[in-house]
Amino acid sequence: MSSGVGLAAVLSALPPASLGLVERLRAEARASGKALYLVGGPVRDILLDRPIRDVDLLIVPGIGIADLARKAAPASARVVEYRRFGTARIEMGELELDLAGARKEVYSAPGALPEVSPGSLEEDLMRRDFSINALALEIEPAESASPLELTDPCGGRADLEAGHLRILHPRSFHEDPTRILRAARLAPRLGMKLGRSTRSAMRDALRDGAMGAVSGERLRRELEKVFSDALLGLDPSLALRQLGNWHVLSALEPGLEWPKEAATPVRRLGKLIAEPEWRSNRFRPWVPGVSLWLAPLGPALRRRVVQRFAIRGETAERILGFGAERQRLQARLAKARGRGAVDALLGGIHEESLVALFASSEPLLRRRIVRWAAEDRARRVPLSGDDLVELGLEGPAVGRALARIRAAYLDGAIANREEATALAVEWARRRASRSAKAKR
Ligand code: CTP
Repeated sequence: MSSGVGLAAVLSALPPASLGLVERLRAEARASGKALYLVGGPVRDILLDRPIRDVDLLIVPGIGIADLARKAAPASARVVEYRRFGTARIEMGELELDLAGARKEVYSAPGALPEVSPGSLEEDLMRRDFSINALALEIEPAESASPLELTDPCGGRADLEAGHLRILHPRSFHEDPTRILRAARLAPRLGMKLGRSTRSAMRDALRDGAMGAVSGERLRRELEKVFSDALLGLDPSLALRQLGNWHVLSALEPGLEWPKEAATPVRRLGKLIAEPEWRSNRFRPWVPGVSLWLAPLGPALRRRVVQRFAIRGETAERILGFGAERQRLQARLAKARGRGAVDALLGGIHEESLVALFASSEPLLRRRIVRWAAEDRARRVPLSGDDLVELGLEGPAVGRALARIRAAYLDGAIANREEATALAVEWARRRASRSAKAKR
């Protein structure tokens, strides 16, 4: 079937950084007599006239994928081969391009990862999650002037037009229950609704306990995507609310819900994730996201949820402790007088808790947090611990003096090294006279 879309339009929709590599892959495919397709999400997004996020390519026949990737990739790129899945990923700086051989798959057990073997283009499309993703556009061989050939064995294009998210067979969610989480992300993102049979297949899978078979790690990876979708300008709270309405959350862990109080903070977090100035700060979007989500729930439930999503170690403890930490910090921040006092409160907290705190605070506190993050936190006091030791301070007094000098500096009470030194000399003198008195 003709897609109605020409090669030039497809190439211009791809991320510009990927174009050179896509051209080399086309040439390699041509040289080895293979067909090359753009497949899944990017085809869906081109037909919807939306920006493409990832470039997913499919090669038929699906053998020798990693060799082809290595031939096409420049020397600076890294090619990672996933033998078990017949796929390869080319990493070039920020750019990641996924290359797969056409394959078919068999699920040995529901919820487990499938066994894959080489297959035809149609078999490859038929094993996918939704009809709107079971689409392929042939980009090599292609006559540049004519519209590209669209392979659409499941009526994906019609579903795109009708706004229906539809699975390809009734056991799809049983075999791979993570597709339920994907549906909750895709439906609000694309403004689509679940078809009636898809909704009832979901209910059946949940009733049959299909979620129980999915490992915590896989669930967490899906959860991570809910929050990283905010980079596309999407509100993560919509997907979570959807999961709550579909009774998926309680199937993941009894008692788990999407609390109303979390909606505004999570929406605000989503906006912040998309802002370039916060994005450059290194934090994992899902950690503040889960912190905000779980904070209104009871402690025992919180702990079970964290375990269910295989969140461990220091990250788990931070998520679990966030509600109490937030309460403490908000009370103190509201009372803090001066920039030094704000710095003393915020200086030690992890970036992931800081953004969660920001997202759930009132405007006044948000202004304080932003001013501290943008202006004060990077300021360095004009005196070091070594300087203080030279002036006669020792032990814990050095740390205390440094903290007081920093606060005085941020408050504007001292402006430079001389004034900081004068203050430190005065403390050292008082300290010496106190200890002399004590000895008498
Ligand atoms: N897929 C699937 N079942 C899953 C995960 C993925 O069938 N549990 C298929 C879908 O057809 C999807 C393709 O694998 O189109 C690639 O997956 P991914 O890159 O995660 O999805 P995209 O649809 O490309 O989503 P995005 O636009 O968010 O990258």
